[in-house]
Amino acid sequence: MKLSQLATAVALVVAGSTAMAGEVEVLHWWTSGGEAKSVGELKKIMQSKGHTWKDFAVAGGGGDNAMTVLKSRVVAGNPPAAAQIKGPAIQEWASEGVLANLDTTAKAEKWDSLLPPVVAEGMKYKGNYVAAPVNVHRVNWMWANNAVLQKSGVTGVPKTWDEFFAAADKVKKMGFIPVAHGGQNWQDFTTFEDVVLGVGGAKFYQDALIKLDQKALTSPTMAKSLETYRKIKSYTDPASPGRDWNLATAMVIQEKAAFQFMGDWAKGEFTAAGKVPGKDYTCAATPGTANAYTFNVDSFAMFKLKDATAQKAQADLAAAIMGTDFQEVFNLNKGSIPVRLNMDMAKFDDCAKLSSKDFVATSKAGTLLPSIAHGMAVKPAAEGAIKDAVSQFWNDDKISVADGVKSIAKAAATQ
Ligand code: GAL
Repeated sequence: MKLSQLATAVALVVAGSTAMAGEVEVLHWWTSGGEAKSVGELKKIMQSKGHTWKDFAVAGGGGDNAMTVLKSRVVAGNPPAAAQIKGPAIQEWASEGVLANLDTTAKAEKWDSLLPPVVAEGMKYKGNYVAAPVNVHRVNWMWANNAVLQKSGVTGVPKTWDEFFAAADKVKKMGFIPVAHGGQNWQDFTTFEDVVLGVGGAKFYQDALIKLDQKALTSPTMAKSLETYRKIKSYTDPASPGRDWNLATAMVIQEKAAFQFMGDWAKGEFTAAGKVPGKDYTCAATPGTANAYTFNVDSFAMFKLKDATAQKAQADLAAAIMGTDFQEVFNLNKGSIPVRLNMDMAKFDDCAKLSSKDFVATSKAGTLLPSIAHGMAVKPAAEGAIKDAVSQFWNDDKISVADGVKSIAKAAATQ
């Protein structure tokens, strides 16, 4: 081939690919160090396919701010191509008729056989895929700084709440902060669900926080959960109100605090800081919950678009999300595990390997549970109401346990 012919051939290829290259606007709330690194990997993949990535990041852990912004964009008739939407909220958005049908991509990429059935179901509305799942986060994790534990004379990670409070007392005595807490309502709620599971067990969690059964919600076990929950607060520092979750993680990373209760996106922060599990820090199930698993599956729902090149970019985004390359590199950075089945876990650390093993084991045992604090268990309206009631209880020591129980049960009746 002559040089001029080669140049023409190259020009044709480039023209061919740019003809189908489009812009993809992606709304997400991944703005912490570990999160931004993770979502950056998706951007790279899309750019390598010739598409333009328009980042629509709305800061705020847990995504409440992002959801408010999303609503106003959709109401204005200008939705992004994709938005981080998960759990029952996917069904609500789909019932509005605004989500795109991803079946062509899902069939071509064999999603039905690559996903755990319970996850695949959640991504579909009336049998059609409308969202693509990214990962599986485990929520019931406790993160501990090994040096702080050692300096405080704590041997072994506490497995029960009694052991936990004994360890926390030792840590306090040595002048460290026992619990790094971010005082935002979704973080208060995250700790709450850990405590309910640890105190009441999987069946109780299911009755109280998934079925929203009034008998369970008003039971002595719920009162006991609230007592334990309140006791944890006495081990947090006075500067916790309003604190972002990643700043709480940083307190554990920097040897200021011993423990944090947080899903394994916290591990993304340890990883970004170059810390190694086992050596610098420990991941363990929150007290009393080693045989259960609260899951949080992140996913992107796709909105209906008119422009053909934008549709192509959107389909490529959906395919990329479920691709093995992205599933590996994203989850290595994010702290989660791949949602795609049969992935090679060789590059993952011990926390991810334990999460992967426990995901399978708890699924068999019937103790794999959707996280209510992370939009997996109940509809957004009830979730929001319970979250507020829980947070009020956390923040106001004058609210008695009996009144706390009552207001949480009342909030759970929200339709
Ligand atoms: C969760 C989300 C995680 C993580 C966390 C903190 O709701 O599922 O991926 O980013 O919020 O922002």
